[in-house]
Amino acid sequence: MPSLLVLNGPNLNLLGTRQPDVYGRVTLEDIKNMCRAHADLRGVALAFEQSNHEGVLIETIHAARGTHDAIILNAGAYTHTSIAIMDAIHSVELPVIELHLSNVHAREEFRHQSYMSKACLGIICGFGARGYTLAIDAALSHLGHDG
Ligand code: DQA
Repeated sequence: MPSLLVLNGPNLNLLGTRQPDVYGRVTLEDIKNMCRAHADLRGVALAFEQSNHEGVLIETIHAARGTHDAIILNAGAYTHTSIAIMDAIHSVELPVIELHLSNVHAREEFRHQSYMSKACLGIICGFGARGYTLAIDAALSHLGHDG
């Protein structure tokens, strides 16, 4: 059974109350439950984690090697700044899907840059919380587990 890691970065713990005009009213707990239900439906294992700390995100990516088959990563603002997270993704040689709730390309120019993209399989952005289940399906399709 494939195992997926859904990893969330800084400020995503505040979803639900954080800029609801941009990110909606869905909480991270709601998204976790959506992901769990979707993983059950697809018959795959799923871990769901969040940290506000770059180093913890990097260590979680490292630990995914040998434990998970793919990572779905919403790195929040670290997407636009972190060469270290890009290097971590390259280092573990796991398929990683970059995810954003908002359409970062329709927002401020500094959000158009992503270091992570250079190391990721693909990007899903702009579909709100639904993007998480789309990303699970994209990861499973890549792994040949289309169901
Ligand atoms: C985000 C987009 C980032 O630019 C922002 O810093 C976030 C959330 C998104 O999910 O839309 O924290 O990754």
